[in-house]
Amino acid sequence: MPPFHLLGGEMHAEAVSLATIAANVGTPAYVYSAEALRTAAQRFRTALARVPRKQLMFAVKANPSLAVLRILADQNYGADIVSGGELDAAMRAGIAANHIVFSGVGKTAPELIAGLDAGIGRFNLEHEREGQLLSTLAAQRSRRAPALLRINPDVDANTHAKITTGRSDSKFGVPVGEALAMYDRLSGLPGLDLHGLAVHIGSQITDLAPLEAAYRRIGDLIRALRAKGHRVYHVDLGGGLGVSYRPGQDDADVEAYGAMVAAVTRDWDATLLFEPGRFIAARAGVLLTRILWVKPGREHPFVVVDAAMNDLARPALYDAWHEFAAVRPSGKTFSANIVGPVCETGDTFAKARVIDRVDEGDLALFHTAGAYGAAMASTYNCRPLVPEVLVDRNRYAVIAERIPAHEVRRQRLAPWMPDVPDMHAA
Ligand code: LLP
Repeated sequence: MPPFHLLGGEMHAEAVSLATIAANVGTPAYVYSAEALRTAAQRFRTALARVPRKQLMFAVKANPSLAVLRILADQNYGADIVSGGELDAAMRAGIAANHIVFSGVGKTAPELIAGLDAGIGRFNLEHEREGQLLSTLAAQRSRRAPALLRINPDVDANTHAKITTGRSDSKFGVPVGEALAMYDRLSGLPGLDLHGLAVHIGSQITDLAPLEAAYRRIGDLIRALRAKGHRVYHVDLGGGLGVSYRPGQDDADVEAYGAMVAAVTRDWDATLLFEPGRFIAARAGVLLTRILWVKPGREHPFVVVDAAMNDLARPALYDAWHEFAAVRPSGKTFSANIVGPVCETGDTFAKARVIDRVDEGDLALFHTAGAYGAAMASTYNCRPLVPEVLVDRNRYAVIAERIPAHEVRRQRLAPWMPDVPDMHAA
């Protein structure tokens, strides 16, 4: 049974009715299925069965919720992190430090130190200066930092421009042509234990050809490095596998991906790391919302929902499609624009889309919102931070609370300002 399904005419997450969650938690709210997380985690691992030595690291940025990370830790996933905050999130969830890889193009010295002090498994270096700094920091602590060099393979991932990372004009990694000489120099540093390569060419990738092209370039580089006597025994192949967001679109073929990886890396003789985010979490979550108004529009009515771009930014940022469905579908449909309450036209989830007929007060949901959903939420328009709910069979729990904007921002007057007059005093 799919994790989100109709039961007695009403949408459920596993065995829990979404109407029950809405009644008790309110809307908008993210709802996750524990079973869907576990299933995706296992499916990804199974697809890589023919890769003999591997470590799977969940890309925390996709969904940093403590309870979600805990489920993935139980599935023996480590963590791919990109900030000190994500390091903290992974450690709090009980992910072993040596099962953490630190990616990201702008790590700060305090973040590198936090990673060193925690004893994380690997740092993925994005450029030479970062390697020099990490070496210095590690040497000061009489340590050698385990590190991989991230390569920019100059491959276009054929995905949305804002989430493609492997082209030579992007900020990520070091140019493949400069990698050999740089690896040489970095290997000589006293505080670095450079022992492999990393690559990640983008996200929401469904065409395996660019991934294969990138991995083949890495293979060539491994051979060239070894020919010069370098040690290469870990290779991080990144994340990036896409999922289907709309009818007619297919998920990335993870089994074909596994077969491709096994074939391309057959003679690499290295432990492979993988950093899936979206593939694990996207389908495991929905954003539950209530219809505030159905407002007449020139060509199509506006369905004004209580979720907005601050809760789910993907449509506004990437023109992303999230399927919309009524929690109690009547079987009737209509063509409508779906918009949120935020004061920008960009706060639009769908334009002129044929959707379940909904009315004021009805509940509805946006599908495939478990990755880069709550993770990217903000308090824009002083809206509260959206809560998260985890369902596991017939149980559910709030795993992140709805937090009023003023508690998130913790604003204060400047000390030289007089107190705000109490307008309500008698
Ligand atoms: N590893 C690295 C180094 C990454 O930069 C990313 C994603 C991943 C792994 C995980 O990629 P995934 O398996 O999830 O595709 N906010 C955007 C997606 C940004 C992805 C950034 N990097 C969205 O909502 O589509």
